[in-house]
This record gives sequence, C-alpha cells and structure tokens, in this order.
Amino acid sequence: MGTDGPWKTTALTLDRVSRTTLVDQIAHHIEVAISEGSLQPGGRLPSWRDLAGQLGVARGTVSAAYEKLIDRGLLVAAGSAGTRVAASFPPTTVTTVSDAESLRPPDFQFGATRGLIFQMGIPANDAFPATLWARLYRQAVQSTSTRIDYGDPRGLSELRSAIASHVAIARGIECSPEQILVTSGFRSGLGIALRAIGATGRQAWVEDPGYPVTRFALELAGVHPVSVEVDEDGLIVEQGRALAPHAALAIVTPGQQAPTGVPLGEGRRQELLQWAASRDAWIVEDDYLAELHLSGRSPPALASGEGANHVIHVGTFSKTIAPMIGLGFIVAPRPLARRLIDVTTWLGGPPTAAVQLALATFIREGHYLRHLRKMRRLYEERRSCVLATIAKLGVYTSVPAALSAMLPLPDGFDDQRLSLDARAIDLAPAPLSPWFAASSRPRSGLLLGVANVLEHRIEQDCRNLLALLRNPGQRPGYANVLSQ
Ligand SMILES: Cc1ncc(COP(=O)(O)O)c(C=O)c1O
Repeated sequence: MGTDGPWKTTALTLDRVSRTTLVDQIAHHIEVAISEGSLQPGGRLPSWRDLAGQLGVARGTVSAAYEKLIDRGLLVAAGSAGTRVAASFPPTTVTTVSDAESLRPPDFQFGATRGLIFQMGIPANDAFPATLWARLYRQAVQSTSTRIDYGDPRGLSELRSAIASHVAIARGIECSPEQILVTSGFRSGLGIALRAIGATGRQAWVEDPGYPVTRFALELAGVHPVSVEVDEDGLIVEQGRALAPHAALAIVTPGQQAPTGVPLGEGRRQELLQWAASRDAWIVEDDYLAELHLSGRSPPALASGEGANHVIHVGTFSKTIAPMIGLGFIVAPRPLARRLIDVTTWLGGPPTAAVQLALATFIREGHYLRHLRKMRRLYEERRSCVLATIAKLGVYTSVPAALSAMLPLPDGFDDQRLSLDARAIDLAPAPLSPWFAASSRPRSGLLLGVANVLEHRIEQDCRNLLALLRNPGQRPGYANVLSQ
C-alpha cells in the first residue's frame, strides 16, 4: 500500500472518544494532507482495505470518508486504479482558528450539505423545479445584463410587487410594495431588523426550545437573549413578561414553532401583540414555515391584523424553494419602514438583480403557488410514512413536528453523539438538545427531517437508525448496521 507522495498514513491517528465521527476524522486528515501538499494532485490513496486494516476500523468507514471527499471534488474514484487526489480541486475548508473560536458549538450542523436522509432544513432535492428555474434564471440574466446601476436598495420593484401580492393572498398581510425589502433570507432580515431597532445591549425574548441560529445571531449582535418556554400553544407570553418585561423585542415562529411545529394559539397571539403595543416593543415574526403546514390551514400572520404596526414580518424562500437561491424579504411595519430602509441602504443592499427577477417571474406566473401545493402534498406523504414506519417497528414513538418527525428519547440520552454516529451510515437526524437554551434542562430526542427521505428506502433507513438507538455509545460498523 502507499501513496505516490510522502503522505504517511502511520501519522493518521483517530480519537475514538471524540464527538467527531471516525469518518469525519479520516476525511479531515486527508484534507489536511492535501492542503499541506503531502498528498499531491493525482496521488493515489491506500485501498479501503489497507487503510481500514491499519486504523482498525471497518472498510465502510474508510470508504465513507473517501466518498465524502469525492463528493466535494477533492478525490476521484479511478476504477481499478483505486482512489486518487483530484488533479485540481476547489479551495479546502480546513478548520481555522477563527472557526474554532466561533460561537457555534461543534455539534450544531449548519452549512454545505446536500439534503441527506433525515436532514432538517433542506427542501426536497428531488422536487426542486430545476429545469424551470434554470430557464427563468437564464432569461433574467439576459434581461438584467444592461442594468448596471445600483438599483433600488429595497430590491427590484418587480419582485417587491410580486411579494406584496403574494403575502396578501397567502398570509393575509395588507401592505404596499413600498413596505417590502428584499433580503437574502431570514438571517439577513434579522440582522437588518436588529440594527433598525437599535437592539444592541438590550434584551430579546427567544423561544425555548428555539432555533439555535437566532440565539447565535443575537449574541453576535450584542443583544441578550432571554429564553422563554414554549408549550403546546407556543411561546408562554406570561413567562416572557415576568422574566424580561422591558425587552426590546421578541423573536417568534408563530406559523409553526421551530422545532415543535405548534402554531401560536389565538390567546397567546393577542397577549403577545398587547405586550408589544403596551411596551413599545417589537415582534420579529419568523415566518419561515408558515406556508408549509402539512395538516390544516396556516394561521394568519401576526403582521396581518391589529397590532401589525409592531410586527416586523421576516419571510424567506429557503424552505419553500431552496436556501441556495438566497432570497427572503421583510414586510416593514410603517413606523419602522424608514429606519429599515436606511439600514439596508447604508449597511447592505439587495441580492443580484437576475435572481430577484427570476423569482418575480416564478411568483407572477403562478409557479410558486403550484410548487407550494406540490411540496405540501409530498412532505405530508413522506412524514406520514416515517411516522407509520417508526410506529410499526415498535419501541419508539415519534410525533409530527412541522417538516420533521420528532422522536423523544429518555432524559440524559446523548442525542448529539447519536446523531454524529448516524452520519457514518449517511443518516442525518438532528439532535433535539441544542435547540434548548443552555440554562434550561435540555430534552433529548431526534428530529427526523422528512423532506429528503425516499419512499423506497424509508423502512431500511428507519431500521438502521433504530439499530443505532438500541446500541447507544457503540460506534457502528458501517457495514454491520446496513446488514441488520
Ligand atoms: C426557525 C428558522 N427560521 C428561519 C430559517 C431560514 O433561514 P434562512 O432564510 O436564513 O436560510 C430556518 C432554517 O432552517 C429556521 O429553522
């Protein structure tokens, strides 16, 4: 065995108690060797068998590590000639010191992944209308190629009009295109809102459990998150009032709470709106999944009725179309509109004109509403199938939670470790515990995203996952689990 270059596989050591899977550790070592030049472009890697034997791991573990790097274009499978380093490859993403120091805990997965089985947050890969989107985007590139000015900082008027008409029908929000600001998604909308409010140094209510990204974003912006518990009616407003009555804002997911999926109850909606009005506080309405209700109708937006003057409605197309298009919007409440526009004018600016125009056409020609209908049907089928399969296999019960099936686990069960282990067999359930604030008692569980499950594999994938659950702490042999 051996490589054509000076890479010493004997230097490759694995940490068997690390939270990082063996697959990821092996892939990381190889990536570092490539970036340091000890593995040269075109160089041959040891066979799976040789490297597995040397490291004392299953062959499947080595092959999974190689596959990962092949997917990323760093390695190429060269048939009987084995696996080689690509002749040229994209820039590597070796962890740097600043990554290590970031606020993000190592076990919170976010970033470049392509819709793995059970992964949350990525729409169905196999249902993205790629041909249609490519056509609209090509046409949009053509027709915007002569627009070389800065453009309106709020975004293209075509898209702002299309969004204003859409939210009127779909979310009951009466607004003019003048109140729409095009953004690159929820996170950029939140950043703009926090600056416009002047929230730095002040408190913000966040849901507990709630979207970890929102908490990281607040901390980065110097805003103090105050965790407010969620029950079957959503945010417990009374608790927020008791903990932080003078908070500058509350950030909520009233359409479908993240991650439980419960809509904010009518009584709670009124309480929340009244609190904001009485304290002159703001509500950031994160509407990310409101249009993908799988059972029943979406509740109307908080920004649709009385009290809307205190609601900053933040929409995104990340879940309904794809995060890769990088588009979202804010519906600015009139009293804050000027300030929000100032922030986006002086500290931001809209996404490229072509992608905005493509989306405007997608909405205007009715493709968006059709796509939403299709996605709701597809996700409903996939979710029912996952829930029924887990029930059929016994022992564990899962419950619907928006675009996921939530599988509660006993208190103290290491759900983060389990979800890392699951990656070794190409399953990507999310652990539930990181959705809880550090100060609260996190509940253990798994969130099984249903968007990217494949009907013909659901039973086998559920079996493999349940096999891991039956043997907690035991790192799976890739091949062993698959053969159960
Ligand atoms: C609660 C919540 N809000 C918003 C988003 C979308 O964020 P973005 O538009 O920045 O991709 C997500 C994505 O998973 C989410 O879980």
